[in-house]
This record gives sequence, structure tokens and C-alpha cells, in this order.
Amino acid sequence: MPPVTSPAQPLRRRRSLVCYVFLVILTLIFIAAVGVLIVWLVRKPKKIHYSVENASVQNFNLTNDNHMSATFKFTFRSNNPNHRISVYYNSVEIFVKFKDQTFAFDTMEPFHQPRMNVTQVDETLIAQNVAVSKSNGNDLRAQTSLGKIDFQVYVKARVRFKVGIWKSARRTAKIECSHVTVSLSQSHNSQNILCDADI
Ligand SMILES: *[C@@H]1O[C@H](CO)[C@@H](O)[C@H](O)[C@H]1NC(C)=O
Ligand SMILES: *[C@@H]1O[C@H](CO)[C@@H](O)[C@H](O)[C@H]1NC(C)=O
Ligand SMILES: *[C@@H]1O[C@H](CO)[C@@H](O)[C@H](O)[C@H]1NC(C)=O
Repeated sequence: MPPVTSPAQPLRRRRSLVCYVFLVILTLIFIAAVGVLIVWLVRKPKKIHYSVENASVQNFNLTNDNHMSATFKFTFRSNNPNHRISVYYNSVEIFVKFKDQTFAFDTMEPFHQPRMNVTQVDETLIAQNVAVSKSNGNDLRAQTSLGKIDFQVYVKARVRFKVGIWKSARRTAKIECSHVTVSLSQSHNSQNILCDADI
């Protein structure tokens, strides 16, 4: 006869094994939960979305000797989707560029953008008798003969982020809105050009 082991022995062992597996699973769930919590707490801030809307050009004039005058109008829009981060904008400079040339320049009032906020700033930039390079003059003539101008809006600012009572160091934000295309025949262009931001 083989030796008889008591049936209680393996049963108890099986029970402690089940207990052990259960404990391991519980520990894993706990670790995962803590991980999710940490990721949630330090999660990356959401990108701020910038756009240029309703751009138009008025009083456009390009002389034969490549001197340009025009009035550029548009709305600069900043959308901060963050629940906890607000942004301070200081020394905000705004440029209308065509290729490598700046046609017009302005500075904006410093402003604070609260959390979950959309801020819109109406801008009017005036170019007055700007000397345009020969090749840019030719490009500009080619475009205006088709009744449009394709320019770029460039915004440079010193920004600080605020989370609760903590304020970040200042850094430079560079916001580039390419291919803002306006029709010369229509005074109002409803369009929405998204910008690339490097903050
Ligand atoms: C752009 O123009 C349209 C039509 O006039 C207007 O409804 C809209 O609010 C304007 N957008 C901005 C950002 O001003
Ligand atoms: C464009 O500017 C030139 C020089 O200032 C001026 O002589 C001309 O009349 C202007 N043209 C228009 C259409 O305003
Ligand atoms: C965004 O913030 C600005 C400045 O505090 C405020 O004037 C504006 O009304 C706010 N916009 C919205 C949509 O809450």
C-alpha cells in the first residue's frame, strides 16, 4: 500500500496558494492604480491653441519701384484648454511677414490668460512705404494679380505659466501662423489659420 497522506494537507496548501495569487493580483492592481494617479498628477499640460481669424488687407499699394503700403487686420486667438494652468504674456511682439521680410510690426498689451479661457485680440498692423526686395516684389505682384496675398503672422512673447501659487520662470514663446491668405477684393475673409507654437 502506498503511504496515505491526509486529504487536509493539500487542501490547505491549495487554499494558501489561492490566497497568495489573490494577494499578488491585489498588489498589481494597487500598483497600477498608484501609477495612474501619478500620471494623472504630473500629466503633461495640454497645448495652447493659437489661430489667426478673419484676416483682411486694405489699401494695398505696391509701387513700380517696390514700395509697399497696406493695412493688415485680423483677430489673434489664443485658446488655453488647461484646467490648472494660466499664462502670463509679457512683451508681446507681433509681425506681419512676407517670405523673409517684415512688412509690419506692433506690440501688444501684456495680458493674463486664465485657465480654460479663450482670448481674442483684434490687431491692425500698418505697413507704410516699406521697401520690398526685388524678388519679393515680383512674388507679391504675381499674387496680387490673382487677387490675393499670402502672408505670415509671427508672434513672439515672454511667457510665464502659473499653476496654483507656483509661477514658472520666463520663457520665450514663438508662434508662427503661416499661409494667412487674404483676398484683395473682399474686405472680410472668414477663415481660421492654425498656428505652430514653440513655447
Ligand atoms: C469672424 O467673423 C465672423 C463673421 O463676421 C464672426 O462671426 C466671428 O465671430 C469672427 N471671428 C473672430 C475671432 O472675431
Ligand atoms: C500708390 O502709392 C503711390 C506712391 O505713394 C501713389 O502715387 C499712388 O497713387 C498709390 N496708388 C493707389 C492706388 O493708391
Ligand atoms: C478670457 O480671459 C479674459 C481676460 O481675463 C477675459 O476678458 C475674457 O472674457 C475671458 N474669455 C472667456 C471666454 O472666458
